[in-house]
Amino acid sequence: MADPAEHQTAPYLDALASYAFRGPTRFHVPGHKGGPGVDPALRRALGDSTLELDVAQGVYGIDLGPDPTPYDRAEALAAAAYGARRSWFLTNGATQGNHALCLALAPLGTAVVAQRNSHASLVDGLVLSGGMPHWAAPEYDPELEMAYGVTAQTLAAALAATPEAAAAFVVSPTYYGMAADVAGCAEVAHDAGVPLVVDQAWGPHFGFHRDLPPSALSQGADAVLTSTHKIVGSLTQSAMLHVARDSRVDADRLARALRLVRSTSQSSLLLASLDAARRQLAIHGQDLLGRTLAAAARARESLAAIEGCRVVGEDLVGRPGVAAWDPLRIVIDVRETGCTGYEVAQALERGSDVYVELATHATIVLVLGIGQPVDALERFAHDLAAELADIRRPGAQLAIAHPAASIAGQSAVAPREAFLGPAEVVDVDAAVGRISCEAIAGYPPGIPALLPGERITAELVDYLRRLSGAGARLHGASDPQFRTIAVLAG
Ligand SMILES: Cc1ncc(COP(=O)(O)O)c(C=O)c1O
Repeated sequence: MADPAEHQTAPYLDALASYAFRGPTRFHVPGHKGGPGVDPALRRALGDSTLELDVAQGVYGIDLGPDPTPYDRAEALAAAAYGARRSWFLTNGATQGNHALCLALAPLGTAVVAQRNSHASLVDGLVLSGGMPHWAAPEYDPELEMAYGVTAQTLAAALAATPEAAAAFVVSPTYYGMAADVAGCAEVAHDAGVPLVVDQAWGPHFGFHRDLPPSALSQGADAVLTSTHKIVGSLTQSAMLHVARDSRVDADRLARALRLVRSTSQSSLLLASLDAARRQLAIHGQDLLGRTLAAAARARESLAAIEGCRVVGEDLVGRPGVAAWDPLRIVIDVRETGCTGYEVAQALERGSDVYVELATHATIVLVLGIGQPVDALERFAHDLAAELADIRRPGAQLAIAHPAASIAGQSAVAPREAFLGPAEVVDVDAAVGRISCEAIAGYPPGIPALLPGERITAELVDYLRRLSGAGARLHGASDPQFRTIAVLAG
Protein backbone atom coordinates (compact mmCIF):
# COMPACT_ATOMS: atom_id res chain seq x y z
CA MET A 1 0.00 0.00 0.00
CA ALA A 2 1.53 3.28 -1.08
CA ASP A 3 -0.35 5.78 1.03
CA PRO A 4 -1.22 5.18 4.71
CA ALA A 5 -4.20 7.54 4.28
CA GLU A 6 -5.80 4.75 2.26
CA HIS A 7 -6.60 3.16 5.62
CA GLN A 8 -9.29 5.80 5.98
CA THR A 9 -11.20 4.08 3.21
CA ALA A 10 -13.19 0.87 3.52
CA PRO A 11 -13.46 -0.16 -0.14
CA TYR A 12 -15.63 -3.24 0.33
CA LEU A 13 -18.01 -1.59 2.80
CA ASP A 14 -18.26 1.53 0.64
CA ALA A 15 -18.94 -0.42 -2.57
CA LEU A 16 -21.48 -2.60 -0.80
CA ALA A 17 -23.30 0.37 0.73
CA SER A 18 -23.29 2.21 -2.58
CA TYR A 19 -24.96 -0.77 -4.31
CA ALA A 20 -27.32 -1.65 -1.48
CA PHE A 21 -28.70 1.81 -0.83
CA ARG A 22 -29.16 3.04 -4.39
CA GLY A 23 -32.20 0.77 -4.76
CA PRO A 24 -31.09 -1.67 -7.46
CA THR A 25 -33.63 -4.15 -8.83
CA ARG A 26 -32.55 -7.44 -7.39
CA PHE A 27 -33.14 -10.48 -9.53
CA HIS A 28 -30.36 -12.33 -7.73
CA VAL A 29 -29.98 -14.15 -4.44
CA PRO A 30 -30.64 -13.81 -1.52
CA GLY A 31 -34.34 -14.44 -1.90
CA HIS A 32 -35.38 -11.83 0.64
CA LYS A 33 -34.43 -9.20 -1.99
CA GLY A 34 -32.88 -6.83 0.48
CA GLY A 35 -35.73 -7.04 3.00
CA PRO A 36 -39.19 -7.26 1.37
CA GLY A 37 -39.20 -11.06 1.40
CA VAL A 38 -38.18 -11.52 4.99
CA ASP A 39 -40.34 -12.44 7.98
CA PRO A 40 -41.66 -9.13 9.42
CA ALA A 41 -40.35 -9.79 12.92
CA LEU A 42 -36.86 -10.54 11.61
CA ARG A 43 -37.02 -7.39 9.50
CA ARG A 44 -37.87 -5.36 12.57
CA ALA A 45 -35.13 -7.09 14.58
CA LEU A 46 -32.35 -6.64 12.03
CA GLY A 47 -33.46 -3.35 10.53
CA ASP A 48 -33.85 -2.46 6.84
CA SER A 49 -30.22 -1.42 6.34
CA THR A 50 -28.84 -4.75 7.48
CA LEU A 51 -31.08 -6.62 5.06
CA GLU A 52 -30.30 -4.25 2.18
CA LEU A 53 -26.60 -4.85 2.80
CA ASP A 54 -27.02 -8.61 2.68
CA VAL A 55 -25.91 -8.95 -0.93
CA ALA A 56 -24.75 -11.96 -2.93
CA GLN A 57 -21.24 -12.47 -4.24
CA GLY A 58 -20.47 -11.68 -7.86
CA VAL A 59 -21.81 -8.14 -8.06
CA TYR A 60 -20.05 -5.82 -10.47
CA GLY A 61 -18.28 -3.05 -8.61
CA ILE A 62 -18.04 -5.00 -5.35
CA ASP A 63 -16.17 -8.22 -6.04
CA LEU A 64 -16.36 -8.29 -9.82
CA GLY A 65 -14.95 -5.87 -12.37
CA PRO A 66 -11.54 -4.47 -13.17
CA ASP A 67 -8.71 -5.62 -10.89
CA PRO A 68 -8.31 -4.84 -8.10
CA THR A 69 -11.96 -5.00 -7.11
CA PRO A 70 -13.08 -3.35 -3.86
CA TYR A 71 -12.95 -6.83 -2.30
CA ASP A 72 -9.30 -7.23 -3.41
CA ARG A 73 -8.45 -3.75 -2.16
CA ALA A 74 -10.05 -4.43 1.20
CA GLU A 75 -7.96 -7.57 1.67
CA ALA A 76 -4.84 -5.70 0.51
CA LEU A 77 -5.48 -3.00 3.13
CA ALA A 78 -5.84 -5.71 5.78
CA ALA A 79 -2.51 -7.15 4.67
CA ALA A 80 -0.93 -3.70 4.91
CA ALA A 81 -2.34 -3.11 8.40
CA TYR A 82 -1.06 -6.46 9.65
CA GLY A 83 2.27 -6.26 7.82
CA ALA A 84 1.43 -9.32 5.72
CA ARG A 85 2.24 -10.19 2.12
CA ARG A 86 -1.31 -11.36 1.66
CA SER A 87 -4.39 -11.55 3.87
CA TRP A 88 -7.69 -13.32 3.35
CA PHE A 89 -11.05 -12.50 4.88
CA LEU A 90 -12.62 -15.56 6.48
CA THR A 91 -16.38 -15.90 6.93
CA ASN A 92 -16.26 -19.10 8.95
CA GLY A 93 -13.99 -17.87 11.69
CA ALA A 94 -10.40 -18.75 12.40
CA THR A 95 -11.78 -22.29 12.26
CA GLN A 96 -11.86 -21.98 8.46
CA GLY A 97 -8.26 -20.78 8.48
CA ASN A 98 -7.09 -23.81 10.45
CA HIS A 99 -8.91 -26.13 8.06
CA ALA A 100 -7.28 -24.48 5.04
CA LEU A 101 -3.83 -24.42 6.66
CA CYS A 102 -4.04 -28.15 7.32
CA LEU A 103 -5.19 -28.87 3.77
CA ALA A 104 -2.33 -26.79 2.39
CA LEU A 105 0.47 -27.78 4.77
CA ALA A 106 -0.51 -31.20 6.11
CA PRO A 107 -1.96 -33.18 3.19
CA LEU A 108 -2.58 -36.91 3.28
CA GLY A 109 0.13 -38.77 5.18
CA THR A 110 2.22 -35.65 5.82
CA ALA A 111 3.76 -35.29 9.28
CA VAL A 112 3.48 -32.01 11.13
CA VAL A 113 4.40 -30.88 14.63
CA ALA A 114 1.56 -29.16 16.46
CA GLN A 115 0.85 -27.86 19.93
CA ARG A 116 -1.11 -30.50 21.84
CA ASN A 117 -3.70 -28.01 23.10
CA SER A 118 -4.38 -26.49 19.70
CA HIS A 119 -7.95 -25.44 19.04
CA ALA A 120 -10.32 -28.19 17.95
CA SER A 121 -10.42 -26.68 14.46
CA LEU A 122 -6.76 -27.65 13.95
CA VAL A 123 -7.54 -31.26 14.77
CA ASP A 124 -10.62 -31.08 12.55
CA GLY A 125 -8.40 -29.67 9.82
CA LEU A 126 -6.18 -32.73 10.14
CA VAL A 127 -9.28 -34.93 9.89
CA LEU A 128 -10.06 -33.19 6.61
CA SER A 129 -6.51 -33.27 5.28
CA GLY A 130 -5.22 -36.61 6.52
CA GLY A 131 -2.03 -35.16 8.00
CA MET A 132 -0.33 -36.92 10.92
CA PRO A 133 0.28 -34.76 14.01
CA HIS A 134 3.24 -35.18 16.33
CA TRP A 135 2.27 -33.27 19.40
CA ALA A 136 4.39 -30.77 21.31
CA ALA A 137 3.22 -30.39 24.91
CA PRO A 138 2.34 -26.92 26.21
CA GLU A 139 3.60 -25.78 29.58
CA TYR A 140 1.00 -26.46 32.22
CA ASP A 141 0.18 -24.86 35.56
CA PRO A 142 -1.55 -27.57 37.62
CA GLU A 143 -2.46 -25.14 40.36
CA LEU A 144 -4.47 -22.81 38.14
CA GLU A 145 -5.28 -25.61 35.66
CA MET A 146 -4.01 -23.37 32.91
CA ALA A 147 -2.07 -24.38 29.84
CA TYR A 148 0.51 -21.89 28.61
CA GLY A 149 2.37 -21.81 25.30
CA VAL A 150 4.88 -24.26 23.91
CA THR A 151 8.48 -23.28 24.59
CA ALA A 152 11.00 -22.99 21.79
CA GLN A 153 12.95 -25.85 23.41
CA THR A 154 9.92 -28.15 23.39
CA LEU A 155 9.20 -27.25 19.78
CA ALA A 156 12.83 -27.85 18.82
CA ALA A 157 12.77 -31.27 20.50
CA ALA A 158 9.50 -32.21 18.75
CA LEU A 159 10.91 -31.13 15.40
CA ALA A 160 14.14 -33.04 16.02
CA ALA A 161 12.09 -36.14 16.81
CA THR A 162 10.05 -35.65 13.63
CA PRO A 163 12.57 -34.85 10.90
CA GLU A 164 9.95 -35.56 8.23
CA ALA A 165 7.64 -32.79 9.58
CA ALA A 166 6.48 -30.32 6.92
CA ALA A 167 5.28 -27.54 9.25
CA ALA A 168 4.98 -26.48 12.88
CA PHE A 169 1.73 -25.17 14.40
CA VAL A 170 1.65 -23.26 17.70
CA VAL A 171 -0.94 -21.18 19.56
CA SER A 172 -0.22 -17.71 20.90
CA PRO A 173 -1.81 -16.23 22.90
CA THR A 174 -3.75 -18.83 24.84
CA TYR A 175 -7.37 -18.44 25.84
CA TYR A 176 -6.01 -16.88 29.05
CA GLY A 177 -4.02 -14.30 27.11
CA MET A 178 -0.55 -15.77 27.66
CA ALA A 179 1.72 -15.24 24.65
CA ALA A 180 4.46 -17.67 23.69
CA ASP A 181 8.02 -16.92 22.64
CA VAL A 182 7.03 -16.74 18.99
CA ALA A 183 10.42 -15.40 17.88
CA GLY A 184 12.15 -18.37 19.50
CA CYS A 185 9.64 -20.81 17.98
CA ALA A 186 10.12 -19.23 14.53
CA GLU A 187 13.86 -19.61 14.84
CA VAL A 188 13.73 -23.30 15.70
CA ALA A 189 11.10 -24.00 13.03
CA HIS A 190 13.19 -22.26 10.40
CA ASP A 191 16.34 -24.04 11.58
CA ALA A 192 14.42 -27.27 11.01
CA GLY A 193 13.47 -26.03 7.53
CA VAL A 194 9.72 -25.77 8.17
CA PRO A 195 7.27 -22.85 8.27
CA LEU A 196 5.83 -21.73 11.60
CA VAL A 197 2.07 -21.25 11.72
CA VAL A 198 0.78 -19.26 14.68
CA ASP A 199 -2.84 -19.44 15.73
CA GLN A 200 -3.16 -15.89 17.04
CA ALA A 201 -6.95 -16.16 17.08
CA TRP A 202 -7.02 -14.46 20.49
CA GLY A 203 -4.60 -11.69 19.51
CA PRO A 204 -6.04 -9.80 16.51
CA HIS A 205 -5.06 -6.61 18.34
CA PHE A 206 -1.45 -7.62 19.05
CA GLY A 207 1.04 -5.12 17.65
CA PHE A 208 -1.47 -2.27 17.50
CA HIS A 209 -0.46 -0.66 20.82
CA ARG A 210 2.93 -0.43 22.49
CA ASP A 211 1.61 -2.00 25.71
CA LEU A 212 0.44 -5.10 23.90
CA PRO A 213 2.58 -8.05 22.83
CA PRO A 214 4.01 -7.83 19.31
CA SER A 215 2.19 -9.62 16.51
CA ALA A 216 3.38 -13.09 15.53
CA LEU A 217 4.02 -11.90 11.98
CA SER A 218 6.49 -9.31 13.27
CA GLN A 219 8.26 -12.10 15.16
CA GLY A 220 8.94 -14.32 12.20
CA ALA A 221 5.80 -16.46 11.86
CA ASP A 222 5.08 -17.58 8.31
CA ALA A 223 1.29 -17.75 8.54
CA VAL A 224 -0.96 -16.28 11.23
CA LEU A 225 -4.64 -16.51 12.07
CA THR A 226 -6.46 -13.65 13.76
CA SER A 227 -10.03 -14.03 14.97
CA THR A 228 -11.01 -10.45 14.24
CA HIS A 229 -14.45 -10.89 15.77
CA LYS A 230 -13.06 -11.91 19.16
CA ILE A 231 -11.52 -8.55 20.11
CA VAL A 232 -11.41 -5.96 17.34
CA GLY A 233 -15.00 -5.33 16.44
CA SER A 234 -15.96 -7.31 13.34
CA LEU A 235 -19.09 -9.47 13.37
CA THR A 236 -19.14 -12.91 14.94
CA GLN A 237 -17.68 -15.60 12.66
CA SER A 238 -15.40 -13.21 10.74
CA ALA A 239 -11.62 -13.64 10.91
CA MET A 240 -8.46 -13.22 8.88
CA LEU A 241 -5.58 -15.36 7.68
CA HIS A 242 -2.26 -13.75 6.86
CA VAL A 243 0.98 -14.90 5.26
CA ALA A 244 4.23 -13.10 6.03
CA ARG A 245 6.11 -11.04 3.46
CA ASP A 246 8.93 -13.58 3.39
CA SER A 247 6.71 -16.56 4.16
CA ARG A 248 7.78 -20.14 3.60
CA VAL A 249 4.11 -20.92 2.99
CA ASP A 250 3.01 -21.16 -0.64
CA ALA A 251 0.26 -18.50 -0.79
CA ASP A 252 -1.26 -19.89 -4.01
CA ARG A 253 -1.58 -23.34 -2.52
CA LEU A 254 -3.17 -21.84 0.58
CA ALA A 255 -5.60 -19.81 -1.55
CA ARG A 256 -6.62 -23.01 -3.32
CA ALA A 257 -7.23 -24.74 0.02
CA LEU A 258 -9.23 -21.77 1.27
CA ARG A 259 -11.58 -21.99 -1.69
CA LEU A 260 -12.32 -25.56 -0.68
CA VAL A 261 -13.52 -24.62 2.80
CA ARG A 262 -15.43 -21.49 1.93
CA SER A 263 -19.01 -21.00 0.89
CA THR A 264 -19.67 -19.79 -2.63
CA SER A 265 -22.10 -17.39 -0.94
CA GLN A 266 -19.95 -15.66 1.65
CA SER A 267 -21.83 -13.19 3.83
CA SER A 268 -21.37 -9.62 2.64
CA LEU A 269 -22.16 -8.46 6.17
CA LEU A 270 -19.23 -10.39 7.59
CA LEU A 271 -16.88 -9.24 4.83
CA ALA A 272 -17.92 -5.61 5.27
CA SER A 273 -17.42 -5.89 9.00
CA LEU A 274 -13.86 -7.10 8.46
CA ASP A 275 -13.10 -4.20 6.14
CA ALA A 276 -14.52 -1.75 8.68
CA ALA A 277 -12.72 -3.40 11.61
CA ARG A 278 -9.42 -3.03 9.76
CA ARG A 279 -10.12 0.66 9.20
CA GLN A 280 -10.98 1.25 12.83
CA LEU A 281 -7.94 -0.69 14.02
CA ALA A 282 -5.56 1.06 11.64
CA ILE A 283 -6.89 4.57 12.21
CA HIS A 284 -8.17 4.57 15.80
CA GLY A 285 -6.77 1.35 17.24
CA GLN A 286 -4.00 3.01 19.22
CA ASP A 287 -6.39 5.37 20.93
CA LEU A 288 -9.23 2.90 21.52
CA LEU A 289 -6.86 0.27 22.84
CA GLY A 290 -5.13 2.83 25.03
CA ARG A 291 -8.40 3.73 26.72
CA THR A 292 -9.37 0.10 27.20
CA LEU A 293 -5.94 -0.67 28.62
CA ALA A 294 -6.15 2.19 31.09
CA ALA A 295 -9.63 1.11 32.22
CA ALA A 296 -8.44 -2.50 32.51
CA ALA A 297 -5.55 -1.41 34.74
CA ARG A 298 -7.96 0.44 37.04
CA ALA A 299 -10.30 -2.56 37.11
CA ARG A 300 -7.42 -4.88 38.01
CA GLU A 301 -6.53 -2.69 40.97
CA SER A 302 -10.10 -2.71 42.27
CA LEU A 303 -10.39 -6.46 41.75
CA ALA A 304 -7.15 -7.17 43.58
CA ALA A 305 -8.60 -5.39 46.62
CA ILE A 306 -11.48 -7.90 46.88
CA GLU A 307 -10.80 -10.47 49.56
CA GLY A 308 -9.99 -13.88 48.11
CA CYS A 309 -9.52 -12.64 44.54
CA ARG A 310 -6.15 -12.60 42.81
CA VAL A 311 -5.70 -11.14 39.35
CA VAL A 312 -3.20 -13.22 37.40
CA GLY A 313 -1.37 -12.41 34.19
CA GLU A 314 1.56 -10.08 34.38
CA ASP A 315 3.08 -12.05 37.27
CA LEU A 316 3.28 -15.14 35.06
CA VAL A 317 5.48 -13.53 32.41
CA GLY A 318 8.89 -15.17 32.35
CA ARG A 319 7.61 -18.62 33.26
CA PRO A 320 8.22 -21.27 30.63
CA GLY A 321 5.58 -20.86 27.94
CA VAL A 322 4.73 -17.27 28.90
CA ALA A 323 6.80 -14.64 27.09
CA ALA A 324 4.18 -11.88 27.35
CA TRP A 325 0.57 -11.39 28.40
CA ASP A 326 -2.49 -9.66 27.05
CA PRO A 327 -3.87 -6.96 29.37
CA LEU A 328 -7.20 -7.22 27.53
CA ARG A 329 -7.80 -10.47 29.35
CA ILE A 330 -8.64 -10.31 33.05
CA VAL A 331 -8.04 -13.66 34.72
CA ILE A 332 -9.22 -13.81 38.34
CA ASP A 333 -8.18 -16.67 40.62
CA VAL A 334 -11.17 -17.05 42.96
CA ARG A 335 -10.11 -20.13 44.93
CA GLU A 336 -9.54 -18.21 48.16
CA THR A 337 -13.19 -17.16 48.17
CA GLY A 338 -14.03 -20.80 48.89
CA CYS A 339 -16.07 -20.90 45.66
CA THR A 340 -15.34 -22.35 42.26
CA GLY A 341 -15.16 -20.12 39.22
CA TYR A 342 -18.39 -21.79 38.03
CA GLU A 343 -20.21 -20.71 41.16
CA VAL A 344 -18.91 -17.16 40.92
CA ALA A 345 -19.87 -16.91 37.24
CA GLN A 346 -23.34 -18.21 37.99
CA ALA A 347 -23.82 -15.73 40.83
CA LEU A 348 -22.74 -12.88 38.54
CA GLU A 349 -25.23 -13.97 35.89
CA ARG A 350 -28.16 -14.42 38.23
CA GLY A 351 -27.53 -11.49 40.53
CA SER A 352 -25.89 -8.83 38.37
CA ASP A 353 -26.70 -9.81 34.75
CA VAL A 354 -22.95 -10.02 34.10
CA TYR A 355 -21.59 -12.71 31.73
CA VAL A 356 -17.92 -13.66 31.72
CA GLU A 357 -16.08 -15.33 28.83
CA LEU A 358 -15.00 -18.39 30.77
CA ALA A 359 -15.34 -19.94 34.19
CA THR A 360 -13.06 -22.73 35.35
CA HIS A 361 -12.71 -24.51 38.64
CA ALA A 362 -10.11 -21.96 39.81
CA THR A 363 -10.81 -18.82 37.75
CA ILE A 364 -13.15 -16.56 35.89
CA VAL A 365 -11.89 -14.92 32.70
CA LEU A 366 -13.07 -11.63 31.20
CA VAL A 367 -12.35 -10.72 27.59
CA LEU A 368 -12.23 -7.01 26.83
CA GLY A 369 -12.78 -5.56 23.38
CA ILE A 370 -11.02 -2.83 21.45
CA GLY A 371 -13.56 -0.21 22.53
CA GLN A 372 -14.65 -1.72 25.80
CA PRO A 373 -17.42 0.29 27.53
CA VAL A 374 -15.50 1.70 30.47
CA ASP A 375 -18.45 2.21 32.84
CA ALA A 376 -19.34 -1.46 32.95
CA LEU A 377 -15.71 -2.40 33.47
CA GLU A 378 -15.39 0.03 36.35
CA ARG A 379 -18.60 -1.32 37.86
CA PHE A 380 -17.45 -4.94 37.64
CA ALA A 381 -15.40 -5.00 40.84
CA HIS A 382 -18.42 -3.72 42.72
CA ASP A 383 -20.67 -6.37 41.13
CA LEU A 384 -18.20 -9.12 41.94
CA ALA A 385 -17.74 -7.99 45.54
CA ALA A 386 -21.51 -7.82 46.00
CA GLU A 387 -22.06 -11.35 44.66
CA LEU A 388 -19.17 -12.78 46.67
CA ALA A 389 -20.59 -11.30 49.86
CA ASP A 390 -23.52 -13.71 49.41
CA ILE A 391 -21.71 -16.86 48.35
CA ARG A 392 -18.19 -16.88 49.81
CA ARG A 393 -17.21 -19.78 52.08
CA PRO A 394 -14.17 -20.38 54.25
CA GLY A 395 -11.61 -22.77 52.76
CA ALA A 396 -10.00 -22.77 49.35
CA GLN A 397 -11.06 -24.95 46.41
CA LEU A 398 -8.77 -27.72 45.28
CA ALA A 399 -7.57 -28.01 41.73
CA ILE A 400 -8.24 -31.14 39.69
CA ALA A 401 -4.85 -32.29 38.49
CA HIS A 402 -4.63 -32.85 34.76
CA PRO A 403 -2.90 -36.10 33.84
CA ALA A 404 0.41 -35.38 32.19
CA ALA A 405 -0.30 -38.17 29.71
CA SER A 406 -3.04 -36.23 28.00
CA ILE A 407 -1.00 -33.04 27.66
CA ALA A 408 1.84 -35.03 26.20
CA GLY A 409 -0.43 -37.50 24.39
CA GLN A 410 0.57 -38.82 20.98
CA SER A 411 -1.58 -40.07 18.15
CA ALA A 412 -1.54 -43.82 17.53
CA VAL A 413 -3.27 -43.36 14.17
CA ALA A 414 -3.99 -40.24 12.09
CA PRO A 415 -7.02 -38.23 13.27
CA ARG A 416 -8.63 -38.73 9.86
CA GLU A 417 -8.43 -42.51 10.13
CA ALA A 418 -9.92 -42.48 13.63
CA PHE A 419 -12.65 -39.97 12.87
CA LEU A 420 -13.80 -41.46 9.57
CA GLY A 421 -13.02 -45.12 10.31
CA PRO A 422 -15.52 -47.72 11.53
CA ALA A 423 -16.57 -46.85 15.08
CA GLU A 424 -18.27 -48.67 17.90
CA VAL A 425 -19.74 -47.13 21.03
CA VAL A 426 -18.53 -48.81 24.22
CA ASP A 427 -18.73 -48.20 27.95
CA VAL A 428 -15.90 -45.82 28.97
CA ASP A 429 -14.35 -48.45 31.24
CA ALA A 430 -14.28 -50.93 28.39
CA ALA A 431 -12.63 -48.28 26.18
CA VAL A 432 -9.27 -48.41 27.99
CA GLY A 433 -6.60 -49.46 25.52
CA ARG A 434 -8.82 -48.68 22.50
CA ILE A 435 -8.33 -45.83 20.01
CA SER A 436 -10.66 -42.88 20.40
CA CYS A 437 -12.75 -41.63 17.49
CA GLU A 438 -13.71 -38.56 19.52
CA ALA A 439 -12.06 -35.34 20.58
CA ILE A 440 -12.98 -34.44 24.14
CA ALA A 441 -11.95 -31.17 25.75
CA GLY A 442 -13.02 -30.27 29.23
CA TYR A 443 -13.38 -26.70 30.45
CA PRO A 444 -11.43 -26.49 32.65
CA PRO A 445 -8.71 -26.74 31.61
CA GLY A 446 -9.56 -26.36 27.93
CA ILE A 447 -6.86 -28.76 26.85
CA PRO A 448 -8.27 -31.50 24.67
CA ALA A 449 -7.89 -34.44 26.99
CA LEU A 450 -8.42 -36.89 24.17
CA LEU A 451 -8.10 -36.60 20.40
CA PRO A 452 -9.27 -38.86 17.61
CA GLY A 453 -6.46 -41.31 16.99
CA GLU A 454 -5.19 -41.40 20.59
CA ARG A 455 -5.22 -44.48 22.81
CA ILE A 456 -7.52 -44.20 25.83
CA THR A 457 -5.92 -44.83 29.23
CA ALA A 458 -7.47 -45.64 32.61
CA GLU A 459 -5.95 -42.44 34.00
CA LEU A 460 -7.72 -40.41 31.33
CA VAL A 461 -11.10 -42.05 31.92
CA ASP A 462 -10.76 -41.31 35.61
CA TYR A 463 -9.78 -37.69 34.94
CA LEU A 464 -12.65 -36.99 32.54
CA ARG A 465 -15.09 -38.58 34.95
CA ARG A 466 -13.92 -36.34 37.79
CA LEU A 467 -14.02 -33.31 35.53
CA SER A 468 -17.57 -34.03 34.47
CA GLY A 469 -18.54 -34.72 38.09
CA ALA A 470 -17.12 -31.33 39.13
CA GLY A 471 -19.42 -29.53 36.71
CA ALA A 472 -17.09 -29.02 33.76
CA ARG A 473 -18.53 -29.27 30.26
CA LEU A 474 -17.05 -32.00 28.11
CA HIS A 475 -16.81 -30.50 24.64
CA GLY A 476 -17.00 -32.95 21.80
CA ALA A 477 -18.04 -35.97 23.87
CA SER A 478 -20.80 -37.92 22.10
CA ASP A 479 -22.12 -38.73 25.57
CA PRO A 480 -22.00 -35.54 27.66
CA GLN A 481 -22.35 -37.64 30.83
CA PHE A 482 -19.28 -39.59 29.75
CA ARG A 483 -20.73 -43.06 30.23
CA THR A 484 -19.95 -44.23 26.69
CA ILE A 485 -17.44 -43.27 24.01
CA ALA A 486 -16.88 -44.04 20.32
CA VAL A 487 -13.73 -46.06 19.62
CA LEU A 488 -12.24 -47.47 16.46
CA ALA A 489 -13.84 -50.84 15.71
CA GLY A 490 -11.80 -54.01 15.37
C1 LIG B 1 -6.89 -20.70 19.58
C2 LIG B 1 -8.13 -20.69 18.75
N1 LIG B 1 -8.02 -20.90 17.43
C3 LIG B 1 -9.10 -20.88 16.63
C4 LIG B 1 -10.35 -20.67 17.14
C5 LIG B 1 -11.51 -20.67 16.23
O1 LIG B 1 -11.94 -19.35 16.06
P1 LIG B 1 -13.36 -18.98 15.45
O2 LIG B 1 -14.33 -19.09 16.56
O3 LIG B 1 -13.14 -17.59 14.97
O4 LIG B 1 -13.66 -19.93 14.35
C6 LIG B 1 -10.51 -20.44 18.52
C7 LIG B 1 -11.84 -20.20 19.10
O5 LIG B 1 -12.03 -20.00 20.26
C8 LIG B 1 -9.37 -20.47 19.35
O6 LIG B 1 -9.45 -20.31 20.68
